[in-house]
Amino acid sequence: MADNPTKGLADVVAASTALSDIDGKAGRLSYRGYDIHDLAGRTTFEEAAHLLQRGRLPTAEQLADYRAELAAGRTLGALVEADIAEIAGRQEPMEALRTLVSLAGADDPDKADNASDANLRKAARLTAQQGVLVARYHAARSGGAVPEPDPELGIAANFLLQITGRTPSQREIEIFDACLVLHADHTMNASTFAARVCAATLSDMHSAIVAAIGTLKGPLHGGANEQVMRTLESIDRGRVAEAVRAKLAAGEKIMGFGHRVYKTEDPRATHLRKMSAELGESTGDDTFYRMSKEMEEVVFTEKRLYPNVDFYAATVYHYLGIPTDLFTPVFSVSRMSGWTAHVIEQHADNRLIRPDSEYIGERDQKWIPIDER
Ligand code: ACO
Repeated sequence: MADNPTKGLADVVAASTALSDIDGKAGRLSYRGYDIHDLAGRTTFEEAAHLLQRGRLPTAEQLADYRAELAAGRTLGALVEADIAEIAGRQEPMEALRTLVSLAGADDPDKADNASDANLRKAARLTAQQGVLVARYHAARSGGAVPEPDPELGIAANFLLQITGRTPSQREIEIFDACLVLHADHTMNASTFAARVCAATLSDMHSAIVAAIGTLKGPLHGGANEQVMRTLESIDRGRVAEAVRAKLAAGEKIMGFGHRVYKTEDPRATHLRKMSAELGESTGDDTFYRMSKEMEEVVFTEKRLYPNVDFYAATVYHYLGIPTDLFTPVFSVSRMSGWTAHVIEQHADNRLIRPDSEYIGERDQKWIPIDER
């Protein structure tokens, strides 16, 4: 039987959105009409989140108000506080986040209220809390204490402070802020689609985000950034080309390469490659960056595939001192802004998302009683 041409919903327009747009041939990405190249390195993550959730880049006053709302919203609820240590001892990072966000839904004062003002408040709280959840999870499993967030610092700086236990340099903050901006939204990616399908049943925002986190976890989506680092660590640094060719010859996928929509360089990878080079040089050991460059050349020569957002994000996070198994959680810290904005957009003009399927099974089967089968 011929393969379904829309298998994996390739090229199917599944939703209308005013949040982000991709030109896969030109390698362009924009958030609400702003080119990602103009946003990354120039706007903070909070400004990008405001743009996505509240429809416009904030004025200085709007940004101050939004930052105050985020600062007030990052306090974790009683159920999360009571259970986080137990969860950290039993669940892997993305599993734990799935559980913790579900618990945060029970703690949230707006709970299952889907009204637009309640959704805006929940979006801010979820965005404020995600980084804190990752840091608190990490501290709980490693038995350490988490530095208190600094009210003067934004989400990027506080996250680095809480994960590494040291005050990050200004340049590290700028780079990580840009990483969060670059990952904030990306049209109908798998986790966003999962969130919208859930929201379209008129389920609540926390339920939609739990669906999204479970979807981001997989190695074909957000889970790829962790796998990139594991690959780099497993390869003999003097034999990168041979190792990559051997994997390809064995039919393995190289994590961090290829994309459903981009047919040229992913514009986010352009920024992340530069950041990886800069951080590699400043830490005094750029081995993983140089290995990444070599991998990129071999994969392009052999398969004509470009790196996606996950490829250079791996070494950037590594150089920033983030533990490898928290790379995908970091993705969720940023994408929370986009997921929540999509839930708001879905609820504002809702219709149940319910595609059709092509039946390929047996037909006209004759029912047989159980003792005759
Ligand atoms: N390494 C080797 N070959 C690859 C890779 C790769 N990373 N990506 C695609 N290919 C090959 C496939 O084997 C396939 O070859 P074939 O036609 O000879 O069978 C062809 O390219 C098309 O690949 P599909 O997997 O069918 O493409 P699809 O659009 O369904 O998948 C995806 C896109 C999932 C991103 C894929 O490129 C992949 O698995 N990449 C590795 C995982 C990864 O990096 N995921 C993160 C994506 S970005 C994100 O989600 C944030």
